[in-house]
Amino acid sequence: MPSSLAIDGGTPLVPQDMVKSWPPMNQQDRDAVLAVFDSDHLHGTAAPRALELQEKWAQYVGTKYALVTNSGTASLHMAVAAAGLGPGDEVITSAFTYWSTAAAILHHNAIPIFVDIDPQTYTMDPALIEERITKHTRAILPVHIHGMVADMDPIRALAKKHNLLIIEDACQAHGATYKGVKAGALGDIGCFSCNRSKNLSGGEGGLLTTDNDDFVARAARLREFGEVVAATGPREYNAYGLGWMYRPHEFINAFILSQLTRLDDNNSQRRQFANYLTSELAEIAGFEGPYTPDYAAPVYFSYVVSFKPDQLGLDLTPEQWKKASQKALAAEGIGLGQWQTRPVPAQDVFHDRIGYGKGCPWTCPFGRGDVYYDEEYPLTSEFIASHAYLRGVHPPNTMELMKLYVDGFRKISENATRVAELADE
Ligand SMILES: Cc1ncc(COP(=O)(O)O)c(C=O)c1O
Repeated sequence: MPSSLAIDGGTPLVPQDMVKSWPPMNQQDRDAVLAVFDSDHLHGTAAPRALELQEKWAQYVGTKYALVTNSGTASLHMAVAAAGLGPGDEVITSAFTYWSTAAAILHHNAIPIFVDIDPQTYTMDPALIEERITKHTRAILPVHIHGMVADMDPIRALAKKHNLLIIEDACQAHGATYKGVKAGALGDIGCFSCNRSKNLSGGEGGLLTTDNDDFVARAARLREFGEVVAATGPREYNAYGLGWMYRPHEFINAFILSQLTRLDDNNSQRRQFANYLTSELAEIAGFEGPYTPDYAAPVYFSYVVSFKPDQLGLDLTPEQWKKASQKALAAEGIGLGQWQTRPVPAQDVFHDRIGYGKGCPWTCPFGRGDVYYDEEYPLTSEFIASHAYLRGVHPPNTMELMKLYVDGFRKISENATRVAELADE
């Protein structure tokens, strides 16, 4: 007898079009963006919405300053430059991140050095950092991945001991806290992305936070061609150093300002959904939700599911079980995704030392010939093979959808032998 699984012709659990995309948008957002048309300010780092967003974001994160930028990558690059990092300086970061974290280091001719992840939180493992510190190391760049903050106390202790700066990649962690302190206020400089998918979305955009007067001034120069562009008074049109063009549009600033009024509500709904899913998955053989250490209040940019064939007595690897159940869940209308298919240092740009071409920055003056070995990041590889992200775990989706998701995982678990056949198809 065929099972009731959708792969065998059963009715999918989740009706088509039930899963809504991120971010939820309302009339307030539309009005905010439309008002820009009549404002006489389309852009400019001294435009009213830019200044308002900077003030509100600094207040929200708990730092002295915030700068608006046009992407998370721009924020990271501004942070690297603001920290005074340059050719040949080494920056220690996580082997599991979106690769733009490392790209921003390369943009200033500095050298990314990677460490493997903690197998429970998927953030960089502080215990692996010290062995990577050399006389060239200048900074640590922890990544608060999937909305989970890195374990900052040991990272800060190492930074203090070795006189290193800390740049946080908080691109996926707007509102997440470590021991009550917000991401972006946990190091010397914090960097956020506001691209479409992020907890605080502007479609595109970015933010940078710091308490440091020099860092904010240097970051602001890099944002606009190396110039000092004051909020009032004439513009000097003199470049004080190399700069880029990382200014956002006022449409984006207006949209982010409007979304910011609902960030805490949205994050608390994500937490509610995530806590529910995690407690339900704990009772369903074959799957597990994410672990939350005592120090963290995550914001679940991604809801991470781990695949556990051993709990079902299946003779499959976690990767095979993931592949099989992903197909069966997709047929039920339940989407699982993945955006990182290998450790960052295993990407071609590092493997083949493409960088700026001709081997730079590794082989350029001040550079060093670091070699990136894939096998040095076994836990990152294992994580990538054995996990995926559950789509739609955010508002405007509802608890009703989360309940259907749980039904779906239970259905797959109860029909595990049949689903396992999909691993080879
Ligand atoms: C961890 C991480 N760092 C950096 C970035 C780069 O942000 P953006 O796409 O806004 O440049 C992203 C987002 O894509 C990210 O997820």
